[in-house]
Amino acid sequence: MVGLGMIFEETYRPFFEQAHARGVYDPAFGLLQVPLLAVASRTGSRAEAYRKDAGSKIAPFVSFSGPDAIGRLLESEVDFVCVASPDDRHFEAAIRSLKAGKHVLIEKPSVLTLGELDSLDKASLEHGVLAKVVYHKLLDPDHKKLRTLVADGELQHVNTGYCTLLEPKSISGGQFAEWITGRNPGTYVAVHYIKLIDFTFGGRLKSVSCTGQRGIVGTADGPTWDSTQLRLVYGYADGREAAFDIHTSWVTPDNFPGYVDQEVQFRFDNGVWNAHSRKRGIECTVEGRTPFTRKININNHYNGSFLEPWGERSQRGYGIEVLERFVREVAHVEHGGPPAERPGRLHTARQLAYNDISADRQTVAAVQAMEAILSRHAAGSPNCVVEVDHALGGLVLLTPGSSQPEVLYSGKVCAEQGAR
Ligand SMILES: NC(=O)c1ccc[n+]([C@@H]2O[C@H](COP(=O)([O-])OP(=O)(O)OC[C@H]3O[C@@H](n4cnc5c(N)ncnc54)[C@H](O)[C@@H]3O)[C@@H](O)[C@H]2O)c1
Repeated sequence: MVGLGMIFEETYRPFFEQAHARGVYDPAFGLLQVPLLAVASRTGSRAEAYRKDAGSKIAPFVSFSGPDAIGRLLESEVDFVCVASPDDRHFEAAIRSLKAGKHVLIEKPSVLTLGELDSLDKASLEHGVLAKVVYHKLLDPDHKKLRTLVADGELQHVNTGYCTLLEPKSISGGQFAEWITGRNPGTYVAVHYIKLIDFTFGGRLKSVSCTGQRGIVGTADGPTWDSTQLRLVYGYADGREAAFDIHTSWVTPDNFPGYVDQEVQFRFDNGVWNAHSRKRGIECTVEGRTPFTRKININNHYNGSFLEPWGERSQRGYGIEVLERFVREVAHVEHGGPPAERPGRLHTARQLAYNDISADRQTVAAVQAMEAILSRHAAGSPNCVVEVDHALGGLVLLTPGSSQPEVLYSGKVCAEQGAR
């Protein structure tokens, strides 16, 4: 495990503790133990706090910290590495792990440039291991239903969409304060919706534009963004287009009732899909607690702690399920049949577009474009547009008033066209 922050606490920790208690079983590979063998973090203090807090819920593990924590972690006998460090530090941990022959699971967004994505994809092929990304929203039952209706042709041809995701101020002002300079909430959370749109509706990303606001997290003319508004235009095999607007912020007041407020609308030729996190069903008030230590609108589907009807305490949800899926994919590759057939099993696991790095191209293209547009904006050139698979290159940045296009990525972004 690389990085032991919020997402480790919320999802990896319950997964590893459940695996410690019960293992992971499938008729194809039998009962497997999945011990957390080693962790790497910046200072090691959270690892020690976790060790103390978890007690017998987890087997003994080794903790590495400091400048070469990852290098030392990779010398231990780990089979796979989960990367949950801040997003601009994913690449180094992931590439080193792949080159050491370890399967890799990376938190979203996988990496920030297509060049890095190409390197990860190449290393995973060369070393015969999986490189996968966590986009847990694809496992949300509501999003599975949306995709099912689209796949079955009940909802026909998406035309437009808007999505918003608002994080509380405590994220930008507290939890992420150490690494927030120069960052934006779009890369952190719009990416959930970029992937949802890309995976659910298929098509080819054609252009990216973005603007945003500053002045709360950092200065009004600095490189750190309070909120962003991203627009993606997609083209489909029938020649039609759709536009998607994704608005995000990490400066919403902490007393806002929603826990990470989220709303989407997708409009189709023959229908409309509306979803709202505060209308999903629960509104709970507890005097003196909500909305500070407990949120008013609780997402019990993502990751909830429950007293099960049979008396057991559990923590479950799609945020944890997505990690178990990855472990099952690794287990199938390594233990799901005769060693001679491993290449076939590896190939099958690599075909899963929901999490394979090779299927993350358009999502990373959108992130790279958004970051470049925001950085030009901070440098005094707002309203740039990035065209995808332009005559001059895969990602080409066009600046208003300038006749000089800038090639951000020269390779082709999208090899094939059409819905997945
Ligand atoms: N799937 C989701 O919904 C979701 C939610 C939150 C975060 N995330 C992702 O998880 C990642 C981590 O986010 P977080 O909220 O846990 O962050 P965090 O700031 O709470 O924790 C980051 C952790 O990384 C460690 N770290 C920092 N630099 C490191 C390095 N060079 N090597 C090893 N460890 C290092 C820190 O010590 C800390 O333990 C980010 O990519 C983020 O986008 C995903």
